[in-house]
Amino acid sequence: MADAPQSWFFDAWSRVYDFAPVQAATYKPVHDAILAALRGVDCHRVLDIGCGTGRLAARLSRELPQTQIVGCDFSAGMLSQAHAHQTRASWVRGDATRLPLRSAAVDVVVSSEAFHWFPDQPAALAELFRVLQPGGLLLLALVNTPSALLSNVMHAGSRLAGQPFYWPTVGEMRQRVEAAGFRVRRQQRIFRLPGFLLPPVLTHAVRPVARKSSSVRRQA
Ligand SMILES: C[S@@+](CC[C@H](N)C(=O)[O-])C[C@H]1O[C@@H](n2cnc3c(N)ncnc32)[C@H](O)[C@@H]1O
Repeated sequence: MADAPQSWFFDAWSRVYDFAPVQAATYKPVHDAILAALRGVDCHRVLDIGCGTGRLAARLSRELPQTQIVGCDFSAGMLSQAHAHQTRASWVRGDATRLPLRSAAVDVVVSSEAFHWFPDQPAALAELFRVLQPGGLLLLALVNTPSALLSNVMHAGSRLAGQPFYWPTVGEMRQRVEAAGFRVRRQQRIFRLPGFLLPPVLTHAVRPVARKSSSVRRQA
């Protein structure tokens, strides 16, 4: 049994990943929700973590023409598909738990259907907090289950299959994001037909702007 999904699994998946009907039914509704959440937001540099074949990053760079988009993924296979897009987005290979970006490098982080694969979710959230500027926006979309039992059953099954993932419950997702230091603004269900009983949830959160220290001593 493996404790973390392997990048070869995603390398293999990348060859069929862009199959149009699957993209339209499964991933497009999630990408649409992320794009809608970004409309009207003044953003300059966006990280798409777990960008896969880069469809969301490519759409972001078309629809937000003033914004620089960086897609990051640990699978060389996914990134080689991403490179095929005619896009201004740039691509970087890296693991979500050890991001190859400097601190406060971006003002928005998005992630679609990837977070459940990250083997250490608190470590990934700590990295997302680090690379996001204070005041920056985090948009994380993945299936959040209605019960802890279901999360654990799915996790056990995926471990047995050798590619473990963990879908938190909606409440657990909020707790994890807040434990990393973010303020959760809202959690939005995304409707899609396949698997409509297990809908993805888009968590909107911000990295708070640090308050000024209150320990300034009064002058005597
Ligand atoms: C289901 S795909 C989603 C791709 C894309 N975000 C989309 O919406 O189509 C999950 C992606 O997460 C990536 N991934 C999984 N674990 C990762 C990790 N630890 N660090 C970076 N990327 C990871 C995989 O390589 C894969 O491309």
